Amino acid sequence: MFFKRLRDEIDAAMRRDPAARTRLEVALLYPSFHALVAYRLAHALWARGWRLLGRFISQAARAFTGIEIHPGAMIGQRFFIDHGMGVVIGETAEIGDDVMLYHGVTLGGTSLSHGKRHPTLESGVIVGAGAKILGPVTIGANARIGANAVVVKDVPPGASAIGIPARVVPPRDQRQDFVAYGTPTADLPDPVARAIGGLVDQIDRLSARVSELEQAGKGGAAAPSGAGQAPEARVAQLPLRTRG
Ligand SMILES: CC(C)(COP(=O)(O)OP(=O)(O)OC[C@H]1O[C@@H](n2cnc3c(N)ncnc32)[C@H](O)[C@@H]1OP(=O)(O)O)[C@@H](O)C(=O)NCCC(=O)NCCS
Repeated sequence: MFFKRLRDEIDAAMRRDPAARTRLEVALLYPSFHALVAYRLAHALWARGWRLLGRFISQAARAFTGIEIHPGAMIGQRFFIDHGMGVVIGETAEIGDDVMLYHGVTLGGTSLSHGKRHPTLESGVIVGAGAKILGPVTIGANARIGANAVVVKDVPPGASAIGIPARVVPPRDQRQDFVAYGTPTADLPDPVARAIGGLVDQIDRLSARVSELEQAGKGGAAAPSGAGQAPEARVAQLPLRTRG
């Protein structure tokens, strides 16, 4: 049973890392595998009340692998951490089956309370390099967290979340093909993009107005007051509110 489980962990690493060539290579060289074996031992000790020994093994594994897994964390089957270095998994984190993390991931807490304060990752979740998932949030099954995202809210199953703070990206087939000037719609509440969209609109209106004035300047009799001046000079004379 124990050895079958180890073989499953190794096979999971081989399925997810195209660079892994043999089981022996994974067993000897992969920090993820070493950290996981140490975690399984530390967690068994922790659960039986051997807390100090559990923490000792966890910290020793951290020194060797760069992966810190608290022995109180709950981790399912076929867990894999690619590259490994700089991963932190907190005491009350819960991780389902077939979850994959890249290097630099933190499953951390945001409060000093002793209760549940770390994230829950349901089965099949993938967390990109450097991502931080903070607090007792839930990442739904098969969701993907982008590299360097900072997640502070729940992510629905199957969704991809990116950025700081992380927001869910619609699946490719739900994205709009074309939005004029990239102006955001109500479902994209990015204030910076909204402000840029407003500026683009204003530039567009100004360009139209300048064209009108140029036409009027060429038209002679139909010219408004100020005819004869360069169009730029006439635009400069306009009251501000009509320029927009
Ligand atoms: C988040 C992720 C899973 C999304 O993959 P996807 O569903 O194929 O999404 P897309 O590539 O179509 O990107 C969707 C949008 O999100 C943006 N995006 C993708 N990943 C992003 C990230 N990590 N941070 C910020 N924006 C990101 C894309 O630029 C794109 O923006 P656009 O629609 O304005 O062009 C993937 O980009 C990712 O970050 N994977 C982690 C990979 C990793 O850590 N590798 C380490 C190897 S050592």
